[in-house]
Amino acid sequence: MPVAKILSAAVVGLDAVPIEVESDISQGLPAFNIVGLPDKAVEESKERVRSAIKNSKAKMADRRLTVNLAPADLPKVGPAYDLPIAIGILTATEQIGQLADPGKILFLGELSLDGKLRKVNGVLPIILMAKSRGISNIFLPEKNAQEALLVEGLNIHPVSSLKQLIYHLKGEKQIRAQKSQFSVSNLKTDIYDYDMAYIKGQEQAKRALEIAAAGAHNVLMSGPPGAGKTLLARALPSIIPQMTRQESLEVTKIYSVSGILPTDSPLISTRPFRTPHHTASDISLVGGGQHPKPGEVTLAHKGVLFLDELPEFGRAVLEALRQPLEDRIITVSRASGTLQFPAHFTLVAAMNPCPCGFLKDPKKQCVCTAAQIIRYQKRISGPLLDRIDIHIEVPQVKYEKLASEKIAEESVKIRDRVEQARQRQAKRFADSKILTNSEMKVQDIKKFCSIDEKSKELLKNAVNQLDLSARAYHRVLKLARTIVDLESQENIKPQHIAEAIQYRPKEQDIY
Ligand SMILES: Nc1ncnc2c1ncn2[C@@H]1O[C@H](COP(=O)(O)OP(=O)(O)OP(=O)(O)O)[C@@H](O)[C@H]1O
Ligand SMILES: [Mg+2]
Repeated sequence: MPVAKILSAAVVGLDAVPIEVESDISQGLPAFNIVGLPDKAVEESKERVRSAIKNSKAKMADRRLTVNLAPADLPKVGPAYDLPIAIGILTATEQIGQLADPGKILFLGELSLDGKLRKVNGVLPIILMAKSRGISNIFLPEKNAQEALLVEGLNIHPVSSLKQLIYHLKGEKQIRAQKSQFSVSNLKTDIYDYDMAYIKGQEQAKRALEIAAAGAHNVLMSGPPGAGKTLLARALPSIIPQMTRQESLEVTKIYSVSGILPTDSPLISTRPFRTPHHTASDISLVGGGQHPKPGEVTLAHKGVLFLDELPEFGRAVLEALRQPLEDRIITVSRASGTLQFPAHFTLVAAMNPCPCGFLKDPKKQCVCTAAQIIRYQKRISGPLLDRIDIHIEVPQVKYEKLASEKIAEESVKIRDRVEQARQRQAKRFADSKILTNSEMKVQDIKKFCSIDEKSKELLKNAVNQLDLSARAYHRVLKLARTIVDLESQENIKPQHIAEAIQYRPKEQDIY
């Protein structure tokens, strides 16, 4: 009896590779072995497959059964191999015929004991891999069908149970294939829960966030409790330009692998907003683990990573953020080499100016000692602060403003301006790898941020008086570039430099 070969797939990082599931029946006492670096979930597959086959009116092999998952050197994780293993066994025991063109059919799915199919993770990368390799027929759990249909041109067969699939493969009752009808109109319009229009006052903070959105600059907000820092941060994604279809798919892939895609409308079309708690571990923040999973920095890809109460985060956790902030990618090492996850996010952090929160508050008295304040502010390392272009203070809003009925400018209007500024940047950086002003390196700053004599004078004074470091000097220039882009102008003028300088941290505040 020939070895049955069934095609399936494994997810490595955010990409998929094909896996061949080989099943062989040989003489000997009844036994069932799975080889090819299975993890515990794959090992347990035996029990699920055994029961599922029995409960689907089919027979389990009654001789020595060996299943090999090839290539053998790649670790196999999770329960998605249940279905290809079951189909392999049924083929090897001749309960169903050999597939006509096994290289063009891919199987995927977890089995429950009664033979029903359960949803699996990482379907989108698998479907994209299938498409690129000309694998045209996919059999997968019904609950994963919508996600699979995000990719055009394949025959997607949604399967509800093993029994149903057996009937199909025997030619007794067909499972109708679905083809993707994806069009841009399927894109859910991006509706955000928070809109700038409902945040009263805070014009300065909103202006700073507009600049941040335009140039993808990182922001640190400092202010007393209840001033609206969290509210402002939550509204930031709504003023960043809409994601392109390509960006949407990229983000959806990350959520697919992490198993947090909604079943009914799987395409992520709004910019991510992630808020890890300050008790989060460094692995949960940057990703990793034995079978590396994306961390918060990757889940925030193309969106916003919000660190509320920044000084409460562990030092190791904040240090781990430095690499992805610099490289916009996170490298995770594992036994068989290294993996990379994208991490192109805007960092927004919030903190109180001191432990009680009322330092410099015009009304309430701060009750902290100087030593307490210094200790609190010192918790954030200099190198991390250095990667934040915009530092702003968010004061309490006056009662009259809070109570006023006036509705502020809507996010969509702000977004229009941001969009224009981004287009200017796209043109500027057409020949380089970067997209936004915040990513400029020193040589780019030299090339794109030349300033006139008056601005030079102003900057010189600031460097001397405020004791700006070389890094801070470059940051001011980058910010000024974004401010000019928002005005659809070309040349950096003294007023732009002056505004950019305002966003530097005040000496006594932080250090
Ligand atoms: N400018 C504002 N316009 C409308 N509502 C506001 C404004 N500022 C604060 N609020 C209200 O106050 C609540 C608290 O604001 P928020 O949670 O953003 O404060 P915070 O600055 O993050 O405080 P903390 O330092 O305690 O985290 C909000 O949920 C909102 O209802
Ligand atoms: Mg808050």
